Amino acid sequence: MKRIQPPSTDLIPTPVVMVTTQGRETPPNIITLAWVGILNSDPPLIGINIKPERHSYRLLRETWEFCVNIPHRDMIRAVDVCGVVSGKDTDKFALTGLEAQKASKITPPIIRQCPINLECRVMNSLDLGSHTLFVGRILAVHHDETILDEKGKITLEHFTPIAYCPGVRDYRALGEKIGWYGFTKGKMS
Ligand SMILES: Cc1cc2nc3c(=O)[nH]c(=O)nc-3n(C[C@H](O)[C@H](O)[C@H](O)COP(=O)(O)O)c2cc1C
Repeated sequence: MKRIQPPSTDLIPTPVVMVTTQGRETPPNIITLAWVGILNSDPPLIGINIKPERHSYRLLRETWEFCVNIPHRDMIRAVDVCGVVSGKDTDKFALTGLEAQKASKITPPIIRQCPINLECRVMNSLDLGSHTLFVGRILAVHHDETILDEKGKITLEHFTPIAYCPGVRDYRALGEKIGWYGFTKGKMS
């Protein structure tokens, strides 16, 4: 039996990322976001959703640039800290020990400890209600060499991304490999 519930955001899981922003005259900041997703392949576009009351929202609207940094499971405490403390009065780089590294195309830095970094420039924004959707064009991507195989492709041997489970409010480390794109060749047995 199914139980019909009121509308909610129970899309389980979602990615959890650390987004860096920087104002014109202010130091960089980190915000943890779970309302995030790829929107288009060519050009590569990513959507991030931020509430107008966030410090990051203000910074983002000064430069219209941001970096999506994908954390490894051992960064979970920093992920949570950056999701409960505001950069308005705290330097989250100092608080977490994360290191800001110069980006190649944008003003906000990338986070050195995150194995993947996506440098983005906002091409559109849309007020949706509680959150504003920022559509970012991905301008450059960084892969830490430790997560690449001998052919330079990403492997998940040494990289465990984190998922967020809305509703449950848990963080989960990405687990067991159970298949791959197209492995069934369209057959059920
Ligand atoms: C797991 C998690 C996911 C979050 N996702 C979002 C989100 O998608 N959008 C948002 O505006 N805030 C989100 N937050 C809340 C912000 O990260 C939080 O309010 C943060 O302290 C704001 O930082 P800032 O004021 O320095 O920008 C999330 C927090 C956590 C812990």
